[in-house]
Amino acid sequence: MEKRNQTVISEFLLLGLPIQPEQQNLFYALFLAMYLTTVLGNFIIIVLIQLDSHLHTPMYLFLSNLSFSDLCFSSVTIPKLLQNMQSRVPSIRYAGCLAQMYFFLLFADLESFLLVAMAYDRYVAICFPLHYTIIMSPRLCLSLVALSWVLTTFISLLHTLLMARLSFCADNVIPHFFCDMSALLKLVCSDIQINEMVIFILGGLVIIVPFMLIFSSYVRIVSSILKVPSARGICKAFSTCGSHLSVVSLFYGTIIGLYLCPSANNSSVKETVMAVMYTVVTPMLNPFIYSLRNQDIKGAWGRLLSKRIIHFSLGH
Ligand SMILES: *[C@@H]1O[C@H](CO)[C@@H](O)[C@H](O)[C@H]1NC(C)=O
Repeated sequence: MEKRNQTVISEFLLLGLPIQPEQQNLFYALFLAMYLTTVLGNFIIIVLIQLDSHLHTPMYLFLSNLSFSDLCFSSVTIPKLLQNMQSRVPSIRYAGCLAQMYFFLLFADLESFLLVAMAYDRYVAICFPLHYTIIMSPRLCLSLVALSWVLTTFISLLHTLLMARLSFCADNVIPHFFCDMSALLKLVCSDIQINEMVIFILGGLVIIVPFMLIFSSYVRIVSSILKVPSARGICKAFSTCGSHLSVVSLFYGTIIGLYLCPSANNSSVKETVMAVMYTVVTPMLNPFIYSLRNQDIKGAWGRLLSKRIIHFSLGH
């Protein structure tokens, strides 16, 4: 057996956001409001889609899954952040830290795979409109969702198990507001070569491959529109793909901003700000992007409300 002379760490300190103490309350209120908006917005989307049979199409079922994923994703980090902002010693237990890392990766990767499924759905809808219902059968939709879950469970479990076998040094201060994998790796004393290799390979799998798939489905969508250019076709494609394209841009925009932009001298602050972008802002905006200019969602909302009003007025 390998001799262990490192300190056994039972707790980590999460330094939180780089803000002044007197701004603490302001940011607490801001994050609480954003979190409640995220939960409410995504919850309404899920309920609307489940209740309204007009929305039982592949696109909306995927959207409902995406909203579920967003809701869980922000619940992994923000409640703990809010709790830590109020406590004197912002700590997290070792097991809690690994669990947070696991669920963070789980829902982040799930989002990435669901965006691919949605891109495929749009590709089939625009390039093969006549065969759409045959190709995008309920069985295929369920398989795509199930495959996303299986892949993401496997990937995040692998990262977490590889992290769990490492030993930490005496330093247990994480300069971040949640247990981020790369922030944790900086505190590790043992050899992290395997971890880095797995992060490199699987990171490519969950970021580059989905990006290429989404990109190629949009290339085909655009080329199929350009083959028979008509104002109506362009409008239709834009109205059905616009929301998805916005969500994709938001998702990959943050990733590109985080990894590809040359980092400033204060890279830890930049990382935290970008992390706030993808843990708080993106999950909050997704439901709005999908519902604001969307007639189907507005219609479902109207039907739901009018049903309730009729119900209410008949009952009294
Ligand atoms: C996720 O998608 C599947 C397959 O389309 C669907 O049956 C299911 O209701 C969706 N789940 C949620 C929570 O939206």
